[in-house]
Amino acid sequence: MPEIKKNWYKEMSVYQIWTRSFCDGDGDGIGDLKGVLSKLDYIKSLGVDAIWFSPIYKSPQKDYGYDISDYRQIAPEYGTMDDFKAILDGAHERGLKVIMDLVINHTSDQHEWFKESLKGEDNPYHDYYIWRKGKGKNPPNNWKSTFPGPAWEYNADLDKYYLHLFAVEQCDLNMDNPAVRNEVKDIMRFWLDMGVDGFREDVITYISKREGLPNGFPLPVACGMEHFTCGPHLYEYLQEFNDEVLSKYDIMTVGEAPMMTPDLALKFIDERDSKKQVLKMMFNFQHMEADCIITSFITTKFSLKKLKSAMSNWQTKLYGKGWNALYLENHDQPRIISRYGNEKYRVESGKMLATMYICQSGTPFIYQGQEIGMTNIRLPELDMYVDVATYDTYNICKKLGFPHKSIMKRIMKASRDNARTPVQWTSGKNAGFTTADKPWFYINDNYTEVNVEDAEKDPNSILNYYRKLLKFRKENEIVIYGDFKEHYHESDKLYVYERNYEGKKLLVICSFSDRIERFKAPKGFDLAKGKVVLGNYDCFNSGFDTFNLRPYETKVFLFE
Ligand code: NOJ
Repeated sequence: MPEIKKNWYKEMSVYQIWTRSFCDGDGDGIGDLKGVLSKLDYIKSLGVDAIWFSPIYKSPQKDYGYDISDYRQIAPEYGTMDDFKAILDGAHERGLKVIMDLVINHTSDQHEWFKESLKGEDNPYHDYYIWRKGKGKNPPNNWKSTFPGPAWEYNADLDKYYLHLFAVEQCDLNMDNPAVRNEVKDIMRFWLDMGVDGFREDVITYISKREGLPNGFPLPVACGMEHFTCGPHLYEYLQEFNDEVLSKYDIMTVGEAPMMTPDLALKFIDERDSKKQVLKMMFNFQHMEADCIITSFITTKFSLKKLKSAMSNWQTKLYGKGWNALYLENHDQPRIISRYGNEKYRVESGKMLATMYICQSGTPFIYQGQEIGMTNIRLPELDMYVDVATYDTYNICKKLGFPHKSIMKRIMKASRDNARTPVQWTSGKNAGFTTADKPWFYINDNYTEVNVEDAEKDPNSILNYYRKLLKFRKENEIVIYGDFKEHYHESDKLYVYERNYEGKKLLVICSFSDRIERFKAPKGFDLAKGKVVLGNYDCFNSGFDTFNLRPYETKVFLFE
């Protein structure tokens, strides 16, 4: 068994805040930092150890903060730097770390650098971005943006195009320019010196583009990705950031890494040689493709086998070598109960899904509202949406000839706006999110049943289950440091795995079925000798090795 290194970032769990929809503290209908400050005790009560803020910097909000116009200022609609410092202090007093989102692949077109860059080739900021001449009447190459559409925008004054791998207003930085890398290092120091405890690095694997920007394999979405994902200088730039800045602080980093595989990830996160490790963890997407292909808009039927293969592969390949970042939800993913669970069994499947991923090896991330089992809102009309990626997707599908109704069906299921509705705090007006007449965005109608206040009072709520689960994880090193072995891989109903650590064993059983399923203990297990430590129906041990699992049942046995 490989030796496993202990570290604080491995033992913690993280709560993600998407501020705009978290809690409104000043009554203008928009979530803000005062709102976050008022909920620090709640966050602490979950048993998490850190907060990750999706971007709260100054931004025109074309992509809700992922288009930054000033890396050193707080967006005025969210508050001031003093509000942020109050959160930092308040969090630290409570033993909570604070992780910032670092978006360095691109800036907003409203960033001063970009405005300067528009002034022409002689301006020192011109080369901060990726400007190229077109090819005749065509853009410099055939790359497509991640938000469907072309990746190049023409500027008539300069007679040049600039690259944007996301929205038109998100201009890709030229990381090959050492001045840009110096800016990035300064931004990192600015926040680390203030006391933040780490970064989630947005699409970090896109920051180095292949020299000459060659045409990509012709695909309707993300064409060119073989030339901008894990590009030629990615490792070198990450090493530079690490050597010169990050390694000087006791912090954690997690890089967002589309298209990542565990073998490739080890190049960046291998912990066996600390000089080579440039990130602590990576968010991969493979397990989020159990009901879609590449993007949540290309939907397929949910496949448990696909989910298990992806998750188990990361578990076994990284064990003793690198560390997993575990998640099922964030601001880009529709709500997990509505995807891999079942809204008819909201409570049961919500708890089962929580158990399934939090009992694996890695640092768990929990997205706001996930802990109370919020579900997709499924807005029926296009003009009700606010997400730029949703509109870009609609437009491309329309161009490809899909009828409106069929596109809307996809959008209702797959839009990121499903995850961006205000957190449901109470069953009262505006779900307790704001005292304003109108919140900035639609609130899911189910707030009268699904809200924090009611969940607090119910010992069997999803909320209280998350607390129990996170406490169990914290108190039992086997959940953090144990190895991983899957059972019944061929089953398309059950996900069953064991963990082993210092002579102890954990058996995790998760049913993804809405019917009764027969369960038989894997070879070598005598269930009568174990203790049921977690369960979403009861924690009763019949002592039998064969029993029925109820819809979406989960049961965790500990053998000491
Ligand atoms: C990934 C972020 O999570 C997403 O919300 C954003 O739209 C893109 N990166 C672009 O920054």
